[in-house]
Amino acid sequence: MTVDDLKALVRTIPDFPKPGILFRDVTTLIGDGPGFAAAVGHMADRAEAAGAQVIAGIEARGFIFGAAIAVRLALPFVPVRKPGKLPVPVLAIDYALEYGTDTLEVDPGAVPDGARVVLVDDLIATGGTAMAAVELLRRAGGTVVQSLFAIDLPELGGARRLRDAKVPADALMSFD
Ligand code: PRP
Ligand code: HPA
Repeated sequence: MTVDDLKALVRTIPDFPKPGILFRDVTTLIGDGPGFAAAVGHMADRAEAAGAQVIAGIEARGFIFGAAIAVRLALPFVPVRKPGKLPVPVLAIDYALEYGTDTLEVDPGAVPDGARVVLVDDLIATGGTAMAAVELLRRAGGTVVQSLFAIDLPELGGARRLRDAKVPADALMSFD
């Protein structure tokens, strides 16, 4: 399956969640069996090449891709969660959204010290979410060796922000 075949499986919804935004929806990609398998297979190959020892995924859509990649590689999966969900004392980080802030949390015991962590999410836009997750995983003791996304929106600069912070960033497909 080519990149263009995968791109064709992503549904584009105008004016969601706000007027003027062209929303790239992965629901239709994961709803296509061969397409989902191909996307996960390519991302797993990339994670393996980066020497992943742990796969971390960002709630919620990053869990879908991250857990599937972890299963393919028989690696541990670490959830980077939205606030108030983990039943233990957490490491937490606030990050800026377009309006306001949000928080991500991780179990401080979930990442073995020095483990090579590959961070996974469905999409990178401004990179605020992924940058916060990288910082949290570093505080938990991991070394984030690679970040992987199904979709990059390069005009929003997120992948560049990660690379500037010395975190390699790869995506299966880009939408201008
Ligand atoms: C979306 C997406 C990324 C993030 C990208 O998640 O899945 O995690 O936004 O945006 P950024 O690069 O500008 O930070 P969302 O917060 O909508 O959560 P969801 O996965 O729970 O739908
Ligand atoms: N699609 C899905 N999630 C997003 C987008 C998008 O276009 N932009 C920011 N988060």
